[in-house]
Amino acid sequence: MNIAIIGSGYVGLVTGVCLAHIGHRVICVDNDPQKVKKLKKGGIPIYEPGLDVIMRDCVRKKRLSFSGSIKDATQRSTVIFIAVGTPPKSTGDADLVYVENVVRQIAENMDSYRLIVEKSTVPAETGNKIRRTVELNLPRKFRKGNQALLDFDVASNPEFLKEGSAVHDFMNPNRLVFGVESKKAEKVLREIYKPLKAKVLVTNIASAEMIKHASNSFLAMKISFINAVSQICGRVGADVLNVAEGMGLDKRIGRAFLDPGVGYGGSCFPKDVDAFIRLSEKSGYDFRLLKEVRRVNEEQRQAFVHLVEDKLWNLKEKTIGVWGLAFKPNTDDMRNAASVEILQKLQQEGAKIKAYDPRAMANAGEILRGVALCASPYAAAEDCDCLLLLTEWDEFKNVDLEAVRDVMRQPVVFDGRNFLDGEKLKSLGFDYYGIGRGKA
Ligand code: UDX
Repeated sequence: MNIAIIGSGYVGLVTGVCLAHIGHRVICVDNDPQKVKKLKKGGIPIYEPGLDVIMRDCVRKKRLSFSGSIKDATQRSTVIFIAVGTPPKSTGDADLVYVENVVRQIAENMDSYRLIVEKSTVPAETGNKIRRTVELNLPRKFRKGNQALLDFDVASNPEFLKEGSAVHDFMNPNRLVFGVESKKAEKVLREIYKPLKAKVLVTNIASAEMIKHASNSFLAMKISFINAVSQICGRVGADVLNVAEGMGLDKRIGRAFLDPGVGYGGSCFPKDVDAFIRLSEKSGYDFRLLKEVRRVNEEQRQAFVHLVEDKLWNLKEKTIGVWGLAFKPNTDDMRNAASVEILQKLQQEGAKIKAYDPRAMANAGEILRGVALCASPYAAAEDCDCLLLLTEWDEFKNVDLEAVRDVMRQPVVFDGRNFLDGEKLKSLGFDYYGIGRGKA
């Protein structure tokens, strides 16, 4: 099938490359000429494990190409996925101006049937707005007033990819959701995903849009729940890891997304929770539960900073080493990373920061101000009064902890992800503080 993907960010690029990998002919489009140039030369603007190998293979097999032109992509494709950004407005609403622009350009260049698929996370009812925009922007010969004379479909096919394992997630989905208005659209989507053996759920468009919002918000709620529990564990002498394990053994609860830490971040959860709160408000429902989810997340970061302040006494002139800056491991993504807020707060208190991340150094350098970016975990720990672990990269499990202890000014570790072996650190002479592991 000939497919266009509009928007070559994380979601668009992974979707495009993977659809080419399972046998389709795909054009990935982006409005950033530099990005398109880089992609055409075989470069990848993001770090996503496994993506580079299959991308090069698909380009070699002539199943994948890149373009800056929506016109060109619309003319050459039957199915067009929209995967452009839906950034938050100051109100928390998703800003859909990019989606509208893209839809308008697609409509202007349509000359026969097209299936337009929303991949970006959008509020329920966006499907209707897309349909209307197409009807109003088709070439004159294909419309009578505001009526379309050309057959087309709109569908919603939300993505559930996790950064860092997006290629694997695409190839092994636990469900595919098709929000459609016609049998034809369902048939086309089934055909596209045929090579992937996954359970398919067919709904109307609004339900598919809601599934995405509700799923991400529910996962964010799980994280905030265990983070709140971790606060109590820390006070009463319980170990939150045992509590999470005990809860997770109940199949109705499940162990996933019960890892306490410095709060969720990334390009999805914070934005999607905000957008869902706004969508609910607009529909006349005050989703207070989700507002608390957001508040607990903010407090979790604040509580971590307070713990550091409490144990170091004064932060002025103290040097703090940081391991991990990305919002989670196996990605170079710094969007809404907990590290950004935590480091800013520590800097405001007068602390000096030295940091190391295996992949996110370039992106971090653009966002963080006044942070000394170091070439290794050892360099980041050198002469520090304490060390913070903010992202659980595997690399940190293999560091020689005795060497780290010997280069630090004070051997104190705050493990914001409960990732390091606390008992081992204590036996080596470190002060070790995790999240909710008992009385600190
Ligand atoms: C998420 C959803 O998982 C995915 O289905 C959706 O398509 C996009 O949003 P992603 O943002 O890539 O994916 O990351 P995810 O692995 O879900 O982690 C999000 C944040 O939650 C990270 O900051 C992570 O560190 C944090 N997290 C996750 C926790 O703090 N505890 C957990 O138990 C799980």
